[in-house]
Amino acid sequence: MKTNCYIHALCGYVPDAVLTNDDLSAMVDTNDEWITSRTGIKRRHKLNADQNASDLAVEAAQKTLAQCGVKAEQLTHIIAATCTPDAISPSVACLVGGKIGAGPVMAFDVSAACSGFLYGLSVCRGLLAADPDAQILFVCTEALTRRVDWTDRSTCVLFGDGASACLINSRSDGAEAELEDVVCRSDGALHDLIVVGGGTSCAYAKGDSVDEHFFIQMQGREVYKHAVRQMTHICEEVLERNGLKIDDVALLVPHQANLRIIEAVGSRLHIATEHVFTNVAEYGNTSSASVPLALRDAHDQGRLRAGDRVLMTAFGSGLTWAGGLLRFF
Ligand code: UT7
Repeated sequence: MKTNCYIHALCGYVPDAVLTNDDLSAMVDTNDEWITSRTGIKRRHKLNADQNASDLAVEAAQKTLAQCGVKAEQLTHIIAATCTPDAISPSVACLVGGKIGAGPVMAFDVSAACSGFLYGLSVCRGLLAADPDAQILFVCTEALTRRVDWTDRSTCVLFGDGASACLINSRSDGAEAELEDVVCRSDGALHDLIVVGGGTSCAYAKGDSVDEHFFIQMQGREVYKHAVRQMTHICEEVLERNGLKIDDVALLVPHQANLRIIEAVGSRLHIATEHVFTNVAEYGNTSSASVPLALRDAHDQGRLRAGDRVLMTAFGSGLTWAGGLLRFF
């Protein structure tokens, strides 16, 4: 049986501080021409010293709650998708609940890296199947610049910080979009292709200095190949199981990691460039926040109209990947 799953007041937040490609070329051996031509990224936002991932999520969450007129005490669940939580424990979801004054809600994090928005939507849909009255605050938030190795030019140019929030419930009134479908996959055998370090496998003793395992490590070329293949396949699968053709899609909103990956997926799906959304130039790769920030920008730029169907796809550490369909109102 189909579960009603509606998205209300999708909001974004990025920190004010910006790092341009020229800023980075003063830090490592790189340049604007390389970064632009290989990735499409021009700028990325970086949180302040006094901000953590939970603070970015709270900024986005306050906008969402204000926009849909829901009080924190009315929430029943808080779900946070992140791969850069403030701490291993407590969860970002609990921290957000405490900061916004939520009641004793069910709160937990989803760890699916860049696929976090789509994995989280799937979890929210499951929670609504169990409890149609649920009022779920769903945030995606990343403090990736805290785990970037600023001496590694192959990764430090790629990532940025940001957050999104939305309210998810089973009511269509006032909703921005309906979740029509979502499919999530993984291949843990390829876990070492992208690692965000700092977990307990880093067996540090007090006073030790950290090494490269503490930071983001990525085998870029391998990840690139898997990303193009899996995002294309999962989009085809989602279209097929919903009896749709690519022409039924008004906008493809893929994970914003690399413009070349986005173009390769678009070309394999035979979707015209004007139907593919990208904002990677402005934010870089914000992992779980990337797809919702792209949806937010697409909406704000007038790229989404009532009735439009949006195909989303993401790929990240795990490896994880996912595809989903939204219908906008
Ligand atoms: O969100 C999770 C998913 N992540 C992704 O989807 C990322 C997937 N991978 C990528 O986007 C690309 O592989 C990268 C952007 C990371 C790298 O692009 P590439 O075209 O695959 O470059 P490469 O790693 O093969 O490196 C090519 C050259 C190397 O030099 P040599 O060995 O050819 O002399 C690198 O050392 O570019 C060099 N290089 C750089 N040069 C200037 C690597 N990083 C930089 C840099 N500036 N920042």
